[in-house]
Amino acid sequence: MLFRALLGAFFGALCLAGAAWAAEETSSQDAASEEVATAEPAAAALPGDAAAGKKLYRRNCRACHGATAKGASSYPKLVGHPAAYLIDKVVRYREGEKFGPNTPLMAQRVKKLSDQDIANVTAFIISLPDD
Ligand code: HEC
Repeated sequence: MLFRALLGAFFGALCLAGAAWAAEETSSQDAASEEVATAEPAAAALPGDAAAGKKLYRRNCRACHGATAKGASSYPKLVGHPAAYLIDKVVRYREGEKFGPNTPLMAQRVKKLSDQDIANVTAFIISLPDD
């Protein structure tokens, strides 16, 4: 008798745990679908400050992409691209996505940039002439 009661309590607890697990499953699925809905990089929504971006560019980007962002050899040219393209690429490098063979070179330089930094540096890049 005692054994059956214990058994009942055990299965009861298992069911509760199961229900809690199922509830958690659905809420994390909700979070995942929300993420898909807001896949647009957050930096795209921020107004960029080109003056702050210029400082950041000099420190973090110029050595490779050049003072006027025209690139050189294996460092791609940045001017001439729309802001949305630049933001999307930098965010994806930051997140660890692999593009060309030199992805690691680029990725390590943008790992610590905030969304605001990316908006700022983009505002600076698109202010440069493409000639
Ligand atoms: C150490 C050199 C280096 C630094 C510093 C660097 N990059 Fe890059 N960047 C690269 C290389 C190399 C690539 C191409 C990587 C590849 O093979 O995918 C690249 C690619 C890019 C691209 C994609 C270009 C395209 O045509 O799609 C953007 C945008 C970019 N960099 C922006 C920046 C910005 C903004 C900074 C500064 C915050 C920066 N990079 C700093 C080397 C660098």
